[in-house]
Formats: sequence, structure tokens, C-alpha cells
Amino acid sequence: MKSKTISHTKSYMNTFENYSLLNNNTFGIDVQANYFIEYDSVEELQQLLRSDLLRENKMFHIGGGSNLLFINDYQGVILHSRIKGIEAVEGTRTKVVLRAGAGVVWDDFVAFCAGKNYGGVENMSGIPGEVGASPVQNIGAYGVEAKDVIVKVECVRVSNGEECVFTAEQCKFGYRDSIFKRDWKGQYIVTAVYFQLTKNGVPNVNYGSLSEEIKQYPEVTISNVRNAVLAIRKRKLPEPKVLGNAGSFFLNPVVSAKKFEEMRAKWPDMPYFNAGGKQYKVPAGWMIEQCGWKGKSVGNVAVHGNQALVLINKGGANGLDIINLSDSIRQSVRDKFGIDLVPEVNIVFG
Ligand code: EPU
Repeated sequence: MKSKTISHTKSYMNTFENYSLLNNNTFGIDVQANYFIEYDSVEELQQLLRSDLLRENKMFHIGGGSNLLFINDYQGVILHSRIKGIEAVEGTRTKVVLRAGAGVVWDDFVAFCAGKNYGGVENMSGIPGEVGASPVQNIGAYGVEAKDVIVKVECVRVSNGEECVFTAEQCKFGYRDSIFKRDWKGQYIVTAVYFQLTKNGVPNVNYGSLSEEIKQYPEVTISNVRNAVLAIRKRKLPEPKVLGNAGSFFLNPVVSAKKFEEMRAKWPDMPYFNAGGKQYKVPAGWMIEQCGWKGKSVGNVAVHGNQALVLINKGGANGLDIINLSDSIRQSVRDKFGIDLVPEVNIVFG
């Protein structure tokens, strides 16, 4: 790995050439990027976007690399934000709005909120990644999604470096989805996110496994919900530093009422969630388990033994090894349930 400085950017903004991305993707895939650059402020990002390097090369922005699968070396520039800071920008007796920099580690933000007894994000404790990805991916867990607390998002427009602010409504949030993944894909870089949290609010512990886990605590406080969520995650999800993974590999499919009733008639014990309207979400992890994949290894990749929605790199796997396993799983689920699973993980071909 070689470090150099781009001539027309400040000296503290380093660019690394032929940079190994091994420590920048939680799947632990050993690929390289032609360039890797980290910036600390909106101004630095704007300078970068004007630089020849960025004009002449394709670019991909990463966060914590926790929802990515690299297939090949990346023939371009990988950007990463180090914009930090959490500040209260508005407050009333019952609510507070916090502005967090895109480069803040997501769980540091959740821990900060829990420490202040601000409610709203505690169910999303332990999600790997950074604040900047939270609106893009509309991250979520245990009955709460980022969209429930995001009020606005500050961005920089890639084409001209202009600063923009978008309301939650403009972000068009959906299940693990937003306008940043669709119509505006690649057009904006998130630099800060505003979250509205409650003071003395009542935590939401309705999600099945959380409602059980929280019974072990004397009270339903924000800190206890955080600890309960961290305990469930620890049991079910592998630690990326030990076993490379990117959390849920597939989305939970949303099916029509008709399809749902057909499935329930055949598999009465099938778990499900109401997805609003006449639609139902069927856990992909359950289907994968029903197909016999849970805990199965194929070479150096495997399906996690405690949560079949998680694919793991047992060491030394490459992106195609994971894709091959994913294809075999998709085929089994198609054959048994007539459902096509869609990867949740962002696959980057380089
Ligand atoms: N299930 C099985 N077998 C499995 C896995 C799950 O039968 O191997 C069943 C469970 O028993 C339960 C249901 O499926 O009845 C749901 O399981 P779980 O609560 O573990 O959640 P999930 O639907 O598999 C989703 C998110 C997770 C999030 C959890 C908790 C997606 C794609 N995944 O998983 O998010 O942590 O709910 O809210 O929506 C992620 O996005 O990376 C992620 C980990």
C-alpha cells in the first residue's frame, strides 16, 4: 500500500494507491482498489470531486463496508468519509434533534443516544456500519427502521459539489430502500443526518424475539433495550472480525395475500410479518433453513448455523465463492417455495 497526496488537495488528505480493501469490507474479501481516499469535511469532499483523479476515474463511496460484496479489484477510486461529530440542534421538553456526521460509527451514535436516555434508535443497536449509510439503506432491526427517526439528510451532489438538504419525505424510504439506491443512485454523497429522538419516550419492544429477551430485565429502559438487542445479535449473528459476513445476505421477500395464504396452508408454522396493506413479509432465513441450508459449508463459504440469512466467509473466500453459494440457495428456495430471493447486500463488480 502506497500513500501519496493529490496535488490540489490539502496535504492531510491522503490517497492510497493499490490499496487492499481487506479491512474495509466485513465479508473479508481480499481485493484492491486503484485508489482509496478518506476525507474529513464537506470542503475536502468538494475539493476531491473537482480533482482530476475523480474526474478521470470511476468512483464508489463506502461506509463501514458492512453491506458490500466485492467480486473483483476495484478499477477506480474508493471514497470514505471521516466526517465526525454528534450535536443537538433542536430540543423541547420531549424531543431532541441530533445531527451526526456521516463518518460516525453507527453503534457509537446509538450508544451516545442511550447514554443520554434519548429514545428511538436503541432497537438498532449493534448494526455495523456508519451513519452515512443509514438513510441510503434505511437500516432497521427489531421493529424499528432509520426512516422512523430521520428528519433530514445533508448531501453533496457528485456532479458539481453543491450542498443539498433532503427531507425524510424526499428520501422515499422503503424496506432497506431509499431514493439514493434508485433514481438518485451514485448522484449524492451523504455528509450528515438529522435524527429526531424522544426524551423519556417509551421503547418499542413488540418485535417477537425482543419482547422475549426484555423479560430478563427488571425494567424496559432505553439502555436495557439496547443491551437486550445486543444480546440477541451476539447469539444469532457472527462477529465479522471472526467470521467474515455482511449481515442478512437476502431481503425478506414481500408476498401477496394470495401467495401468503397458499404458503400458510402448506407450512402452518411459517413465521411472517404484516408488511402493510395486503402484503406479507416471509423470513428468508426460515425458507433457507427449510431448504436444509442452515449451517451448511461449501468449500470456504457457509450458511451461518444460528441464522440462515447470513452467509459467511470461513477464510480466504472470494466474491464469486459467495455468489455461487447464493445462487444455489436461490435455486433451492425457488424450487421449494416459488420465490426468488433478492440479495440485500450491495454487489460491487469493480
Ligand atoms: N428464522 C428461521 N431460521 C433462520 C433465521 C430466521 O426460522 O435461520 C425465523 C426466526 O425464527 C423468526 C423469523 O425467521 O421467526 C425472523 O428472524 P429474525 O428475527 O432473526 O429476523 P430476520 O427477518 O431473519 C431481519 C433483518 C435483520 C434484523 C432482524 C431483526 C432483513 C433482511 N434482515 O432478519 O437485519 O437484524 O430482522 O430485526 O430484513 C441486516 O439487514 O443485515 C440484518 C441483520
